[in-house]
Amino acid sequence: MTQKKILITGAAGFIGFHLAQALQARGDLLIGIDNFNDYYSPSLKQKRADQLAKLDIPILETDIRNALVLEKLVKQYKITHLVHLAAQAGVRYSLINPQAYIDSNVTGFLTILEVLKNHPQIKLVYASSSSVYGNNTKVPFSVTDTTDNQASFYGVTKKANELMAQTYNHLHHLSAIGLRFFTVYGPWGRPDMAYYAFTKAICEGLPIDVFNNGNMERDFTYIDDIVQGTMAAIDSVKKGKHRIYNLGNHHPEPLGKMISLLEKLLKKKAKIHYLPMQPGDVLSTYADISLSQKELGFHPKTSLEKGLAQFVAWYQKGGSKL
Ligand SMILES: NC(=O)c1ccc[n+]([C@@H]2O[C@H](COP(=O)([O-])OP(=O)(O)OC[C@H]3O[C@@H](n4cnc5c(N)ncnc54)[C@H](O)[C@@H]3O)[C@@H](O)[C@H]2O)c1
Repeated sequence: MTQKKILITGAAGFIGFHLAQALQARGDLLIGIDNFNDYYSPSLKQKRADQLAKLDIPILETDIRNALVLEKLVKQYKITHLVHLAAQAGVRYSLINPQAYIDSNVTGFLTILEVLKNHPQIKLVYASSSSVYGNNTKVPFSVTDTTDNQASFYGVTKKANELMAQTYNHLHHLSAIGLRFFTVYGPWGRPDMAYYAFTKAICEGLPIDVFNNGNMERDFTYIDDIVQGTMAAIDSVKKGKHRIYNLGNHHPEPLGKMISLLEKLLKKKAKIHYLPMQPGDVLSTYADISLSQKELGFHPKTSLEKGLAQFVAWYQKGGSKL
């Protein structure tokens, strides 16, 4: 296989950090970009970037809306693939600051698409989200389900990304795959996500906020499985085609189970503060992965028990201090 030259946006982020290492290990050439914004600890992002620098994976501090820099990098590194992970993530924050989602997820994604218009040979893999299913009640969520009933502004911008990619495919023959990730977790994860925030609070003896009395379930998907599926997508983008896949564990788990597993691993009881359902939240997520199994060979292997044990081990070995 010829060496791929891959530009990863959001490379100092949780998924980008893990993906970059796995791609490097199989021999691809990498360059990352990230704007190190303060949505969550920039110092955690910097620590991830420092780890990558030790492996000779450079991360340039820049914004994805800087078309001139993107254009320069694409030419300088003779980029063959662009993996677009940079985004304003988080469902709840999209109620507080919707503009941040327009800036990074809509304007930022448009900048990427415009650069790729000038370089039609570059293949794109971009992060969408299970959030595009919004208030969908039919389970499991299939890529053939309609996604017109959005529950959060975050979901709206991810759905917009899919439509934007589809239009650039139609008009400009963009070659792309969009990946709908389902609740990704693991070591070096995102402190804004429940499993991470709960771990921190339980360790510090602080109460945790649990919405809808804990009557919610998520298709928690371990980072190594996401990395495996994303690498398969990078290898599967077909010239002039746009495809969308679910990457989820296909095994929804109640929030309460996640909390009791953490209590067991941390050997400490959680102080639970029950709250009503939050606007923007959905009751359940559950990925139908038949298409990703068939076309990407995606077979997630990690149970919530095993994955959370890996996360807690990392957290206790120093992750908590990052
Ligand atoms: N983690 C999950 O559970 C999950 C689920 C569904 C979808 N996703 C999507 O996957 C992608 C990666 O998620 P993650 O969990 O690694 O998030 P993350 O926030 O850890 O990583 C995103 C990175 O992008 C950077 N970034 C944001 N806006 C930028 C901009 N305008 N210019 C340059 N860099 C910018 C951030 O600094 C961050 O380091 C995102 O697109 C996210 O929406 C994640």
